[in-house]
Amino acid sequence: MTATPVPSRGGAPSRPGTPDLIAAATGVVVAALTAASLLAVQFGIYVINGFALTTAVLAAGLALFVGVPGMGIATVPVQRLLLAAAVAAFAAALLTLPFAVMNVDGRGLVGLGDGLARDVALRSGRYEGVLTRCAGAVMIVLALRTVGRPRLARGLQLAGAVLVVGSLLFTGHARTHGPLALTLTCALLHAVAAAGWFGGVVGLGVALRSARGDDAARLLAGFARWMTGVLVLLVAGGVGLALLCLSEPSGLVHTAYGQVLLVKLAVVGGVLVLSSANHRRLVPLAVRGRADAVSALRLNVAVEQIGLLAVVLITDVLMRQNPGG
Ligand code: HEM
Repeated sequence: MTATPVPSRGGAPSRPGTPDLIAAATGVVVAALTAASLLAVQFGIYVINGFALTTAVLAAGLALFVGVPGMGIATVPVQRLLLAAAVAAFAAALLTLPFAVMNVDGRGLVGLGDGLARDVALRSGRYEGVLTRCAGAVMIVLALRTVGRPRLARGLQLAGAVLVVGSLLFTGHARTHGPLALTLTCALLHAVAAAGWFGGVVGLGVALRSARGDDAARLLAGFARWMTGVLVLLVAGGVGLALLCLSEPSGLVHTAYGQVLLVKLAVVGGVLVLSSANHRRLVPLAVRGRADAVSALRLNVAVEQIGLLAVVLITDVLMRQNPGG
């Protein structure tokens, strides 16, 4: 992977692209958060944590996606989106801290001044997780700004992705359930694969917009190969985590944790069916040059992106439940 500098926008006014939409959406989220923090911290904490988890998984996943051989097509739009996602992940991670303090204190914005609440929130794993994620996001941005040294850029990008994904291990139940080394290994493999899938599908959607003919065929064939390994890791890590977190199988139906996990599995199942239909039916046709198959794939990839976004948001709810009931 060669880091192509993200070009500045100049010249004729252009139509708004995905990064512009992300910037606009970020503005709306920040405004909503401010209102939510004043009205109901409990609601605000769900919004900010969901946003923080989504941007982290997206930034790490896109950083992995641009490193996959053959994915260099449409590098500039994907790198622009990666830059926006890394900056958003950095900002959102920092924002989770004041919300954690307000949540501990329970009095809304006034609680930010409470030393005890700050102490409790900042001593939790969340603080270390935020630092790790911010370090990873900075490395990704540095990789994008590194010109003429592809090896260094690639190393920075991969290390940044691993740090961003690794930051998820400071929260959630991986640190408190089962043999620590085993749960952390499952969680890391699962999180890397989840980022690979989500970031990969978003990156593919962006790249497919500009890729035509042979380029689109190469992109799809490379992506299909990469996804096979990703899905094996994802399912192995996810099932391992579920077995380690749930003390008994009946917890799947009798605890709120198990029920949220079942909802997550139902959505994952739906996305998997769509994804395998794409790979079995549409990808071979698109690789043979059928333009109608590429158009159908663009639509299906958009639906897959929405499905995976829902899975990530459900995961945020899952991580707040008690696996013990
Ligand atoms: C076979 C399907 C899956 C199963 C059984 C599964 C199960 C789990 C479990 C049990 C956890 C631990 C939550 C906790 O801390 O209590 C988890 C975490 C997580 N899952 Fe999944 N999951 C699956 C698919 C997915 C998919 C498709 C995505 C997104 C693309 C995803 C994203 C995540 C993320 C980001 C985490 C947090 C990081 C971590 O702790 O490893 N999962 N999953």
